[in-house]
Amino acid sequence: MTTLAELVQARLRSGPLPAAEAMALALYHPEHGYYRRQSGPWGFSGADYYTALDLGPLLGEALAVRFTQAWERLGRPDPFVVLEPGAGRGWLGRDLLQAARGDFAGALRYLHRDDNPAAAMAAREALAPFLAQGRARLVAQDEPLEPFAGAVLSNELFDALPAQPWRWDGERWLFEALGDEGQVWLPGAPCEATDWFTRQAEGGLESGDGAPWCEALPSLVADLSGCLSRGLFLTIDYGDTTPRLIDKGADLRRFKAHQVDGQWWQAMGEADLTADVDFTRLARHLEASGFQDAAHQSLSRWIRAHAPLARWEDEWQSMEEAERRKRMENLLQLTLPSMMGDRFRVMEAWKSRD
Ligand SMILES: C[S@@+](CC[C@H](N)C(=O)[O-])C[C@H]1O[C@@H](n2cnc3c(N)ncnc32)[C@H](O)[C@@H]1O
Repeated sequence: MTTLAELVQARLRSGPLPAAEAMALALYHPEHGYYRRQSGPWGFSGADYYTALDLGPLLGEALAVRFTQAWERLGRPDPFVVLEPGAGRGWLGRDLLQAARGDFAGALRYLHRDDNPAAAMAAREALAPFLAQGRARLVAQDEPLEPFAGAVLSNELFDALPAQPWRWDGERWLFEALGDEGQVWLPGAPCEATDWFTRQAEGGLESGDGAPWCEALPSLVADLSGCLSRGLFLTIDYGDTTPRLIDKGADLRRFKAHQVDGQWWQAMGEADLTADVDFTRLARHLEASGFQDAAHQSLSRWIRAHAPLARWEDEWQSMEEAERRKRMENLLQLTLPSMMGDRFRVMEAWKSRD
């Protein structure tokens, strides 16, 4: 039994543990949380999951194109700061900095923000040349930042925030929890989450409908909005519109050794847990925090719109066979619907006034 399991057993003596609280403990307990341990196994190197940036440089290259457009639209500010909360190993920042060209590269400053100690250690290595040149910096989660012109970027940050699954049983709303005998669904009092899901369900609710509710979403959006005086908010994440999530009866997912299941209460602290991101709600909160034109599209469409594919094709022709194959896989993984193409969405929103 792990120490985290012992802590959970002790906590259960005072009653069922809501799934969101279990997720918070499993991922962020200061000593035993999956994202708070000092060293691996974690994420891809722990062979639990991979994200879009594990597959090659295409996402970073597409972001360099998109942020160059944003920099032009803002009147070429110098510096153009990109803050990445939940930046993990810093690979996306590295790929972005490597792909930036010309005057934009000169103006680009990348801020890595993630209190995950194992990831920060890996980021120091991945970003080493850029840290030495003063083009990148690691900032602590609680470090206050002067508002900047630029962008707030995240990849799979929102799906790592603790979330509480709710389910409609035909008559009332139930919330998911861990009890003495295992996982249970318990009747819950009406609240903001149940009001939101009830209002958003298209064509009414059916038994089994439901979705996870992320309590921290508004405060994180407000915090990130406060960092950005003018520029682009861009987030890549797993999720969908509220009606589609409700229809799917979305629940938490556990990633362990590249296996995905719903058994979030198993091997707590040793597996990654994620919750689908409610993009309808995210757009609402972005607009309430001063952003305009919040809109999202599939990763597949976004990549096809912004990736420098003509340049890729030229480079691709002259590559060794093994590298050519890797590049092709990178493109297919990000664009094919059943791979990441349709399962991930990209949200963009603009802040144009100080
Ligand atoms: C699923 S991982 C994604 C890491 C990286 N973006 C990637 O794609 O490989 C989520 C990361 O978000 C971090 N995180 C969670 N809440 C955060 C917050 N409020 N601010 C910054 N980082 C956060 C966790 O420590 C974890 O490293």
